[in-house]
Amino acid sequence: MSNQVTLSINNQSITVPAGSTIMEAAQKLGVTVPHFCWHPGLSIAGVCRFCMVRVEGMPKLQIACNTPASEGMKVDTVSDEVKDAHKWALEFHLINHPLDCPICDQAGECELQNYYMKVGKYQSQMEDEKVLKPKALDVGDTLVLDTERCILCSRCVRFEDEVTKTSTLGIFNRGDQATIGTYKDRKIKHNYSYNLADICPVGAFTAKDFRFKCRVWFLKESKTVCPGCSTGCNVNLFQNSNQREYYRLKPRHNADVNGHWMCDTGRTMYEHLNASARLSSPLLNGESVSHQAALQAVTDAVKSISADKLAVVFTAQFTSEEYSATLKTLKATLKSAPKVFVWRDESEKIEDFDGILFRGDRNPNTRGMMDVLKEEGINPVMLKGDFSALASSGAELTLIFGPEIEVGYPNLQKALGRFIEMKKTVYFGNSLSEAAKRMWIRIPVKVFAEKNGTFVNFNGVAQKLKANAPVFPAVKSVDEYFAELGKIAQTAI
Ligand code: SF4
Ligand code: SF4
Ligand code: FES
Repeated sequence: MSNQVTLSINNQSITVPAGSTIMEAAQKLGVTVPHFCWHPGLSIAGVCRFCMVRVEGMPKLQIACNTPASEGMKVDTVSDEVKDAHKWALEFHLINHPLDCPICDQAGECELQNYYMKVGKYQSQMEDEKVLKPKALDVGDTLVLDTERCILCSRCVRFEDEVTKTSTLGIFNRGDQATIGTYKDRKIKHNYSYNLADICPVGAFTAKDFRFKCRVWFLKESKTVCPGCSTGCNVNLFQNSNQREYYRLKPRHNADVNGHWMCDTGRTMYEHLNASARLSSPLLNGESVSHQAALQAVTDAVKSISADKLAVVFTAQFTSEEYSATLKTLKATLKSAPKVFVWRDESEKIEDFDGILFRGDRNPNTRGMMDVLKEEGINPVMLKGDFSALASSGAELTLIFGPEIEVGYPNLQKALGRFIEMKKTVYFGNSLSEAAKRMWIRIPVKVFAEKNGTFVNFNGVAQKLKANAPVFPAVKSVDEYFAELGKIAQTAI
């Protein structure tokens, strides 16, 4: 028996693996079949009855999400009969849905709104009062639930049962009294809760972190990689480009890395990107200086010491290109022979894994950094709670490349306190912490969303970052700084 089947949808032929549904075949062909309850990351429920299609030879319309594709099958998704079925299924879903779009956070990305424009546009025949249900329920630290907006698609229930296996949600009562809710005395408490707001096709689940902050049509999205841990989930980052303000992250499907999901910790990875959380210009002994002056001072300092008196402290939160440019410039152009240290937070449990996505290594590029060090023939010394190797290294100048994601370094203050005991310290990073203020030179750097480069995840998957316009136009990435540093050094020769 062949493991492929060929069918036709709207007279276009498509071959799919045996066992695929009509919905999957249509997706592969680029044909949209309206749907609410079907989600490619969840089991099939077949409850919304929206995805009706005509299958030749079958007496009634069928649901595309739960009908297997078979050899020679002829499917129609666009005839008047099918369009009518979509229209009236949509009206059925809207019978008890409140028309509060102007104050609903889902407006602009609501599947009810979108489908109404695509397949609805009917004259409402609804004359009865809508059924009222509990609104704005606090169901946990991250989400608000408006049960009146729910269309009972059960995606959220399946997510809780199948992905997080926490089974917090259920649909209670029957008929028009059926209501989504949490089981008695239970709250949504896991690290994947915002996915519920993503998969809810309407505004029943909304994210507390995003509610009422910005209308979605003001947001521009860009593709990037979450820097929150070594999994490297593929994400979309949303920025209001008029204000240069970042507002949220959402998962982007990658079957090899994160599937359809991301964790709540990763959702916070926009907070440190905005101007108020960052150092904006270089400081030398606490005084603001130009980038050129800061780089000149670093170049002079490197050149004024003997080659083996330089220490470099990396954290694994920079791109592979940044490590490579730093080491090559120091060695080839500045003729230095730096001792290299890797700083990891003392609380880190690098092997931890929650069984879904989140890893104990809170650095996005440990693997890429180690690959570059190996290429450069460097065996770094680990600084993890114990800083004595650095203290006794005899370094007269220490270049520290601090973590962008400071929440991954809960003992940051303590570590910085040890670094400033060194003779002269240059800190590449945006930290506004008190200890950072005592560094000799501080140079702000571009964040992950602003630079091109590569992160290699725990599994060896190399993923490219793509630069958005930087919040502070004069601030550069470490590889850009070291290219300039190399030029300064060569000019002086
Ligand atoms: S709350 Fe949203 S995801 Fe859950 S059943 Fe209702 S509409 Fe579906
Ligand atoms: S699992 Fe890691 S990479 Fe994925 S979203 Fe969470 S913090 Fe980000
Ligand atoms: S998407 Fe097919 S029944 Fe809901």
